Amino acid sequence: MEQKLIRKVLVPRLGDESVLEIVEAPVENPRTGEVQVQVLHSIVSGSDVNMRRGTYPFQKKPPFTPGYSMVGRVLTNGAGCQKFAAGSLVACLTVYGAQAERMNVPEKYLVPVPEALDRSQAVALVLDWMTAYRMLERSAKVRQGQRIFVHGLSGGVGTALLRLAALRGAEVHGTAAAGKHDELRNSGAVPYDYKQKDWIAEMQRLGGVDAVFDPLGYESFDESYSILRRGGLLVGYGQNLPALTHTPQRPAFPMIVKLFARNLAFWSGKRTTFFGLLRGSKGFNSDLEQLFQWLGEGRIQVPIKAVFALHDIQEAHRTYARNANIGSIVLNVSSE
Ligand SMILES: NC(=O)c1ccc[n+]([C@@H]2O[C@H](COP(=O)([O-])OP(=O)(O)OC[C@H]3O[C@@H](n4cnc5c(N)ncnc54)[C@H](OP(=O)(O)O)[C@@H]3O)[C@@H](O)[C@H]2O)c1
Repeated sequence: MEQKLIRKVLVPRLGDESVLEIVEAPVENPRTGEVQVQVLHSIVSGSDVNMRRGTYPFQKKPPFTPGYSMVGRVLTNGAGCQKFAAGSLVACLTVYGAQAERMNVPEKYLVPVPEALDRSQAVALVLDWMTAYRMLERSAKVRQGQRIFVHGLSGGVGTALLRLAALRGAEVHGTAAAGKHDELRNSGAVPYDYKQKDWIAEMQRLGGVDAVFDPLGYESFDESYSILRRGGLLVGYGQNLPALTHTPQRPAFPMIVKLFARNLAFWSGKRTTFFGLLRGSKGFNSDLEQLFQWLGEGRIQVPIKAVFALHDIQEAHRTYARNANIGSIVLNVSSE
C-alpha cells in the first residue's frame, strides 16, 4: 500500500502551548492485527496537557503525537483483521496518536459507534465518561441514596461523574469555580468553591460520604479521606494538584504508598484505591457500548466545553488552561 502523508499534532519538546506543532508525515501501513482508521474527532484532555508539560505518569519522551481517544472510520484492515468493514464508524481509547488524520490501532481495542450518534459527544465518552462510569460502577459501586463527593465537578471527568451518579440516584456534592455553581446546581449537584475548605466541615457535619473521587492527589487525598464515613471509599485517579495550583511538580510515589497504606487501618472501616482506565481491562468494550446506547437513547448528554480544528491545537490547550465552561474539549481532526 502506498504510504500517505497526513497532518498531525507533534509535541517536539516539553513546554507551554507554544511548543505544539502541526506537521506532515507519512503513516505506516497497518501491521498484523491492526486497522488503519481515518480519525474524525479526538479530544484535548487534562492528560494531554500534563503530557505536554512532562508531568503525566510514565509518559513517552518527546517527540510524540498526543490524542487520548478518537472516533473515526475504518480505512484498511491489516493481516488477520476482519471484524470491521471499510467505512465502519469506530471508537478507541488510544492514549497517544489520535491527534492525527490517520492512525493504526489494534483491532481488539476498536468499539463500533452507532451511525446516528453525535460524534463530538461520542468521542468524549471514550475517556472522560468511561473513567467516570467505571469508577462509579466498578470501583465504588455507587447506589441510589448514597452521598458522594467529586473534586472538579465542572471538569471532563467531574461532569460525567455528576451526571452518571445522578442517574443512579446518588446525592452529589463537590467542588468547582464559584462562577459555575448555578449551572452545577441545575444539574443536581451541591457545589462548593475549591478555594475555600468549608466543604470538609460540611461533609463531616452531614455524617461523611460513601465515596470521594479525587484527581488532585497529595494533601487532597488526606482531606478526602477525612470526609469518608465508615464503609466509605476514596478513589484517587490523578495527581493534578501541582498543575492546577501552578506549584512545582512533586514525586507521586510516596503519595500513592500513603494512599494504599491507609487500608492497613482496617478498624477505621474506610477504604482507599487508585483507579486507572485501561482499554484492555475486562468489560471495557461492553461498558463503552453501554454508554453509546445511553447517548443514543438520550439518557445522557455530554456537555462540550469547546470544539477546535486540528490546526487550532495551541488555542485548544490555552482554552483548557482558562477553565471556561463545563465539560470536554473536542478536536475536529479530519472531515469526511
Ligand atoms: N486515572 C485515569 O484513568 C484518568 C482518566 C482521565 C483523567 N484522569 C486525570 O483526571 C484529571 C482531570 O482531568 P479532566 O480532563 O477531567 O480535567 P478538567 O476537565 O480540566 O477538570 C479540571 C477540574 O479541576 C478544577 N480545578 C481547577 N483548579 C483547581 C484547584 N486549584 N483545586 C481544585 N480543583 C481545581 C476545575 O474547576 P473549574 O474549571 O471550575 O475551575 C475542573 O473542574 C487529570 O489529572 C487527568 O490526568 C485520570
